[in-house]
Amino acid sequence: MTEKIIYDSLSGNTKELAETIKKERKDAYIEKISNKLTTEIENIEVFYIGSPIIKGCCTEKITKLLQQLENKKIFLFFTAGYGESQDYYNTLKERIIKLIPKTNQIIGAFFCQGKMPESVKERYVELIKEHPEDKKLQVSLQNFEKAKTHPNNQDKENLIKEINKINLT
Ligand SMILES: Cc1cc2nc3c(=O)[nH]c(=O)nc-3n(C[C@H](O)[C@H](O)[C@H](O)COP(=O)(O)O)c2cc1C
Repeated sequence: MTEKIIYDSLSGNTKELAETIKKERKDAYIEKISNKLTTEIENIEVFYIGSPIIKGCCTEKITKLLQQLENKKIFLFFTAGYGESQDYYNTLKERIIKLIPKTNQIIGAFFCQGKMPESVKERYVELIKEHPEDKKLQVSLQNFEKAKTHPNNQDKENLIKEINKINLT
């Protein structure tokens, strides 16, 4: 089967996952999604599509790609600033799967945390100064620190396990 890994990545986290898949699926084409969305789609049977979570969804470029696909097998992978909540990941997954035409088959989905820019921390610190009583801000700051080391080797091993579960027959 002809396979292609396509990803978007603003700061490199999702790119790391894409490269992890490429190591496992050596014959797959790999490309970062371009502004022109001129990727070859017709002759590809299996897509591994990756995106950072931006404002609660995949990026606009990845949205446009997903909406174009018909009759493909699709494995989705994401990095998100927030982690450790399967409920959060499930909500995102449902939202993103709704973007994809029903003729496609979703063969898997993977999420892990990805580090965020320092500017996010600076904003939390400022907000905590203004609202020291706000527990949610403290949790967000702790989460920022946890995200700093991701994606890590364990995330990549977990991703490979999910990839190896796929049965393409
Ligand atoms: C503008 C912006 C918006 C973001 N929105 C979210 C969000 O809604 N939920 C979330 O969990 N993470 C959010 N993040 C964090 C990113 O999903 C996370 O850092 C991701 O790993 C970035 O991946 P990349 O390095 O491949 O771009 C946001 C990051 C940026 C820069």
